[in-house]
This record gives sequence, structure tokens and C-alpha cells, in this order.
Amino acid sequence: MKNEFQVYSLIDKKKNGKKLTSQEINWFIKNYTENKIPDYQMSAMLMAMFIKGMDLSETSALTDAMLHSGERLIFPERNIIDKHSTGGIGDKASFILAPIASAAGVKVPMMAGRGLGHTGGTIDKIEAIAGFQTTLSLKEFAKKLHKEKIVLIGQTPEIAPADKLIYALRDVTATIDSIPLITASIMSKKLAEGANGMVFDIKTGTGAFMRTTKDARNLGKSLITTARRFKKKAVALITDMNQPLGREVGHSNEIVESIETLKGRGPEDLTNLSLELAAHMIHLAGVETTFLKARKKAELMLKSGKALEEFKKLILSQGGDVRVVEDYTLLPMALEKTIVRAKKSGFIEMFDNSLIGLLLIELGGGRKSKSDIIDHGVGFSFHQKIGDFVKKGEPIVTIIHHAHQNQIAQFVKERFLKDVIKTTTKKIKHPKIIIDKLS
Ligand code: URA
Repeated sequence: MKNEFQVYSLIDKKKNGKKLTSQEINWFIKNYTENKIPDYQMSAMLMAMFIKGMDLSETSALTDAMLHSGERLIFPERNIIDKHSTGGIGDKASFILAPIASAAGVKVPMMAGRGLGHTGGTIDKIEAIAGFQTTLSLKEFAKKLHKEKIVLIGQTPEIAPADKLIYALRDVTATIDSIPLITASIMSKKLAEGANGMVFDIKTGTGAFMRTTKDARNLGKSLITTARRFKKKAVALITDMNQPLGREVGHSNEIVESIETLKGRGPEDLTNLSLELAAHMIHLAGVETTFLKARKKAELMLKSGKALEEFKKLILSQGGDVRVVEDYTLLPMALEKTIVRAKKSGFIEMFDNSLIGLLLIELGGGRKSKSDIIDHGVGFSFHQKIGDFVKKGEPIVTIIHHAHQNQIAQFVKERFLKDVIKTTTKKIKHPKIIIDKLS
């Protein structure tokens, strides 16, 4: 390593709350990615960054260093727009908004993630469809984007390798929920995949990394400012994650709910959020001149069935079994059902949403360690949302599991009743899905 700087001194500088220069940040990231700085020193630096924070110019420098750790696709077209969600429970909006936007004339380069912590992953969910290929080379990705206008893959090794390494460290060193670190992680990947505009879905609530609306707004501002510094257009929606999005949480059952939504039979919150995010993509792409026209176009794409056709095209183009769209029994699905019923009458007041994600992991619908294989067939179906009135004995959630999992299903049921669901006798308002918009 060229001894331009000293690892120890840079960690010490950040630990004392001083601002790092872009040269220092770049040097640190480059040497870490080249395996010249060990994990324990990178972990110390991440914790210093987490505790002392970083200003917007340090955040941009970190984004730039992580972006340049790998390859970068550059497309001249204005209409290449992606969306990124900060992660939640039951979040399947990508499967609906991407086909809507693509049907409207937007090119959508989706590079999505796997489940992380208590949150589910878009790539794990789409893999419930037999044959669907989520690993393409960067070259194939670019080719498909131009030919099909819509492509969905996992992060390739060429895209922001520094993020991949740092993310794995953050996951085990309690340094995930930091605004500058999340910003650099998301932006380095989005910039590398070639999107010219970005729509962010920033989740807030019990199932989100940003627990408060204030933190979510700050993350939104940080993402938008960083996007601008890189000359990209961006919009952020702050959305509610105090309960699952839609009614299904799992993998196959979330794919079914997404297809039902594309057929116009989806739950209101999921349909509305998908239309709103897609409309922002259509507007940013310049397909429509006003947001209102873009929203109308998004509604038309859904209602006319054109979005469903795009989703079918996506499945076919990536080798998946497109028959699932008409025959849900082709998706792996566990056959046993254990119903969680209300112990007393009342209004649903809250759900511990991150615990829902953790209980799904207990059933095998998520990973406890990196090598675990996801069971796409297990999940939860929610019959009630916050604000609904439930009578004693009525179902609140159905646990979908296998016959050999009866004991664990009982354990999950007890946790639902004891720790996840809270009811009250006071009337509770149905929460709004979209809390705020930043642009
Ligand atoms: N999603 C990402 O890609 N990175 C983060 O740090 C958090 C959510």
C-alpha cells in the first residue's frame, strides 16, 4: 500500500469527529477493497463514521469511492429510471411499479437485493418463480435493458464491490442504520447501474431501518442531495412501514399478491403506493410533462392490462415459468395453515413489524446465516390492518407452513398474540401509506 495516509490516523481523526477529505476517504476505500486494510480496521472506521456522522461532502466522497471500486454503466437516454426501497415487510411494490413504468415507456434497470436483517428481498421473492434467472453479467444486463426495457437482477460482482464487502461488515457490526452509510451504499449501486433518475421509497416505522419520520426525512434529503451532486434527478417518498405492505408476507404468496394487483385486484395500500412510485418514474423519465398526467398514465397501464403483459415479458425474458401468472399452484406453497385469532374484541392498534420479519425467518422464509436456503412456500396472510375492528375469535393472521412445522407454527402463533399484535378499545385511524414527498 502506498503510504500516503495512515490507517490508524484516519480512524482516529474520524473518531474525534473531524471531517475526512475526499482523498482520505478514497484512499481508505480503495485499500480496503484491495484487501490491504483488514476487516477489524474497516469495522472501527465504520463505527467512527456511524457515531460521529459525516456531512454531505463526505457522504458524496464515500459514494464516489464506492462507485469507482467497480464498473459503471453509462447510458445517454433520459428515460432510464430506477426506484429503490430502503427495505421493509411485505414490500413487493417493485413487481407492480416496474411493469407499469416500463409499459408507459420508461426503461427500468432493476438491480435488487436479497433479504437483509428482518427485511425481505426482491431477488429472493422473484426466485419463487421456477427458472427465473437473477444472475446476468453486466453486459447481458445492459443488452436486456435496451431490448426489453425492463430487467431484474441481483447485484453483479462488477457493481460497487466495495459496497458488497462493507455491507457484510455493517451487517455484523451494528452499523447498518446510519444515514451517510446507507446513502453511499444505495447511491454507489444506483449510479453504477446507469440509472439517470431515481425514485426512493423511504420506509419509516416499526418494520423499517429508519424508525422515525424525522430520520426518514433526513435520509431522503441525504439521498436527493447526493443524487443531485452526481447530476441525477431524484424524488423520495416517505412511506409507512408500521404494518406489512399489502396483506401477504413471504415469497410465493407475495408473488401471487403482486400478480393479483397487476390484475387490478390488489389491496389498496399496495396498489396506491405502486401507482404513485411508477408515476414519479414516468414523470422523471420525461414521458409525461406533469406529475398528474404521469399518474393518469400509470393508472391506465394498470387498468388496461399492459402492465401485466410487461410482467409476463419480464418473466419470459429471464427464463421463468410464465404459466404462474394464470396458475398459482405452480409456485411452491406450504399446505398447512395455523390461524391466529383475536383474543378479545377491539381495534388493531399496532404490529411489531420487524418481529413479523424475524418470525418469518424462524419458519425458514429468511436466512439466519448467509448459506441458508430460503423456503419460498411459507409465509403469513394478514386479514386485518391497523385501524380495523376485530371481534373476539376472528382471524387476524394465517400462518402458512409445512406439516412438520406444527410446533414452530404454535410458537410463532404465541409470539403473534403476545408480542406482535396490539389491540385497543379506542377507535384508531387507518394510517396513510404515503406520509411525505421530497423532491
Ligand atoms: N439498502 C442498501 O442497499 N444499503 C443500505 O445500507 C441499506 C439499505
